[in-house]
Amino acid sequence: VHTRVAIVGAGPAGLLLAQLLRGAGIDSIVVDSRSRDEIEQTIRAGILEEGTVEALVAAGVDTHAHQVGMRHDGIELRFDGAGHRIDFADLVGRGVWLYPQHLVLQDLLATLVPAGADIRFETTAVRVDDVDGERPRVVVTGPDGAESEIAAEIVIGADGSHSVVRRAMSGSRAGLYREYPFAWFGILCEAPPSAPELIYSNSPNGFALISQRSDTVQRMYFQCDPDVDPASYTQEQLWEILQSRVPGTTLHEGPIFQRDMLQFRSFVARELRRGRVVLVGDAAHTVPPTGAKGMNLAIADVLLLHGALRAFLLENDPRLLDGYEQTALHRIWKAQNFSWWMTSMLHQMPEASDFDRMRQLGELRSVTDSRAGRTYLAEAYTGWPLELGG
Ligand code: DHB
Repeated sequence: VHTRVAIVGAGPAGLLLAQLLRGAGIDSIVVDSRSRDEIEQTIRAGILEEGTVEALVAAGVDTHAHQVGMRHDGIELRFDGAGHRIDFADLVGRGVWLYPQHLVLQDLLATLVPAGADIRFETTAVRVDDVDGERPRVVVTGPDGAESEIAAEIVIGADGSHSVVRRAMSGSRAGLYREYPFAWFGILCEAPPSAPELIYSNSPNGFALISQRSDTVQRMYFQCDPDVDPASYTQEQLWEILQSRVPGTTLHEGPIFQRDMLQFRSFVARELRRGRVVLVGDAAHTVPPTGAKGMNLAIADVLLLHGALRAFLLENDPRLLDGYEQTALHRIWKAQNFSWWMTSMLHQMPEASDFDRMRQLGELRSVTDSRAGRTYLAEAYTGWPLELGG
């Protein structure tokens, strides 16, 4: 088959791009190896920048973020036994929405599927042929295992950190990355919220993040060794660890009904575009989860790329597409810096000395004691204005 834009990956980036292209009258086909159910049920990130929600609404996505989501106008940084509020509303006049990624995906699919969008679930991209040509082709295997081809004017890799499209484009010339000597242990539990806002806590035992999902379900994470087996802890042990990571606060405990591990990695692909093949979202870059930039950055890539594709496909004007990589990289590296900074300021490095630990507290105080420091954090957390290039 032939389409104008072949999109590999039905995550937030791929689906929002399909929706924006549809609004411009540009046909696309989206493929994803997962079933619709799996896409809609997998627990992932939780925080949307205000601008991300505005972009979903402006794209005509029937989103429930404003009804079901919870608006947060600040966070707490906790260290040395005390909490310090970062008041986003006062500092930058913006906030964020706590609205989980799987609900964003449900909203996108509930908008796209009834409108007749061509989304092929359980369809795996195995490779991209003719990457350097005028009509690159995505080779896929369908639910029945049969192989077929989708030829397109543009191929988008929105297929996550193990991107098949990136491999087709750049081979093993992967990109720039750093690794971290820890991971996050994540839990979902049945309990009321422990605090009005999220708590990012630096403690002598390591980092913890006290997040939320609703009035009755809470999401929490703690820094752990990347090799631990999530099944090896009892619920009592998990609560003991979590409580020990937020000195000065008492958490509301309840049954833990899900546990998972999040790996930490910072990564930026060496090229975001090659001819008619373009990467967005986690296929192009990965950030560690501290600071919740991942999904927001993916959406920002797509807003930028959408303008470039309209100009290219509707007006034959390649200038914005030619500028996509450079413009996108400005925001990507700002987000890389912010995510790395939040991570390094809040986690305990296994080899940290007493000097390192005291310096870290000095860094945290430099942020919380200074309006300029808090404002930098608030600007980055709530999201920088979109740079549209051109
Ligand atoms: C959540 C995850 C994050 O990485 C973060 O910084 C804040 C919240 C969450 O899943 O709730």
